[in-house]
Amino acid sequence: MRDRIKNLLDKIEQFKIENAAQAEQFRLEFLSKKGELNNLFADFKNVLNEDKKEIGALINQLKEKGQSKYDALKQSLSASDNKTNSFEDYTKPGFQYASGGLHPLTITRQSILSIFERIGFTVASGPEIEDDWHNFSALNFPEDHPARDMQDTFFIDDKFALRTHTSSVQVRLMENNKPPFRSLMPGRVYRNEAISARAHCFFHQVEGLYIDKNVSFADMKQTLLYFSKEMFGEQTKIRLRPSYFPFTEPSAEMDVSCFICNAKGCNVCKYSGWVEIMGCGMVDPAVLQNCGIDANVYSGFAFGMGIERIAMLKYRVNDLRLFSENDVRFLKQFQAAND
Ligand code: PHE
Repeated sequence: MRDRIKNLLDKIEQFKIENAAQAEQFRLEFLSKKGELNNLFADFKNVLNEDKKEIGALINQLKEKGQSKYDALKQSLSASDNKTNSFEDYTKPGFQYASGGLHPLTITRQSILSIFERIGFTVASGPEIEDDWHNFSALNFPEDHPARDMQDTFFIDDKFALRTHTSSVQVRLMENNKPPFRSLMPGRVYRNEAISARAHCFFHQVEGLYIDKNVSFADMKQTLLYFSKEMFGEQTKIRLRPSYFPFTEPSAEMDVSCFICNAKGCNVCKYSGWVEIMGCGMVDPAVLQNCGIDANVYSGFAFGMGIERIAMLKYRVNDLRLFSENDVRFLKQFQAAND
């Protein structure tokens, strides 16, 4: 009997338990009803009376050893089970996060700005909620100008409106600084228009202002020709058609030769070979005076273009609404242009 106990003790001690299946095997072999320990207990009745005390104690010790080995291993196995679940394999390839891209209007704005920045223009900004003075009066809009109508402008109350152009920033710049000026005013503007493929209640502009001594119409023409060639290609030509703005005199609309068909005629230029891209003109002396600048000393030009319009021409987008719908299928197409 003593030998059996010693043997069993060795077996229990040497039994390797590394996983749940082996633990179960250990339990069946030694601890279960049909296990070896129970057999020992069953044979205990045959032990001589004078040995019972000693043998009984040995069997109990053995049982305790087996049970505690089983319990300890079971516990460490379940602990390492949990660990396996939360274990990260740091050698695995990482998740692919879809990276965003710049919005086509941002890309277009940046290229417009960088072309002018190369010839010394800086960027100015101002509020989107404007008072009547900065958006209209200082810019020489007569009292009865249609833009002052509720139908064209979003008024907030009788004093404030959402700016209808970023010319309001030109006024702020001139009021608060001394000439010369060579600045760009990019920003969002609002007009009360029915939303369609060609019109929206808001869009984006880049306007520009150049004021110094002896600035002429020829300076404006050359500056805008430089811009057009940089933006649309070296072969681009420009043409100025007389127009009217309250704040410029003379005023013009500027067309560029159609860079899509090389001025041969296509549906983008409506077979004319020209596409209109901006308004411009010599700043009206009345505007300079309104902003505290001596119009006898200084003169200059201003221009303004819609970023959407340029982006639509450049990327052949035929619906203005696409720019503000945030449809990733549309936006994704510009990722390659993000350089
Ligand atoms: N402010 C004009 C507009 O919004 C654009 C413009 C700016 C025209 C400067 C001439 C000179 O349409």
